Amino acid sequence: MAKKTFFVTGTDTGVGKTMVSAAILEAARAAGLRTLAMKPIASGCDETPEGLRNEDALALQNAMTESLAYEVINPVALKPAIAPHVAAAQAGKTVTAQRLIGFCRGLQLRPAD
Ligand SMILES: Nc1ncnc2c1ncn2[C@@H]1O[C@H](COP(=O)(O)OP(=O)(O)OP(=O)(O)O)[C@@H](O)[C@H]1O
Ligand SMILES: [Mg+2]
Repeated sequence: MAKKTFFVTGTDTGVGKTMVSAAILEAARAAGLRTLAMKPIASGCDETPEGLRNEDALALQNAMTESLAYEVINPVALKPAIAPHVAAAQAGKTVTAQRLIGFCRGLQLRPAD
């Protein structure tokens, strides 16, 4: 079966992006497919002994079939619960579309369905 990639988006917060993503992953798992998922950039992360962690990225990590390091699932993690581009600017991080695309392409190279 050819590899498939889904890009889940929605033009507001709380509209169900994470819920739908987890549902797609669950459906794929039930169909016997190997899945990978990522949330390339996340604001509103919690500080933990392991580093910054985002609830949505952890939900994806839990819903996918393959094991991935948190940093691969969520390469850009930001603490303030504000718009990611604003949080990135406050943290002095340059986040370009090109860089985020690179993270996504990297994930697509990994073995999965
Ligand atoms: N299809 C649905 N049916 C019922 N409730 C839903 C559905 N989708 C989402 N919800 C409810 O809406 C809430 C927000 O959904 P979700 O966290 O998936 O949104 P989001 O778009 O990922 O938000 P954020 O931008 O904050 O990441 C969920 O906690 C859930 O309770
Ligand atoms: Mg979400």
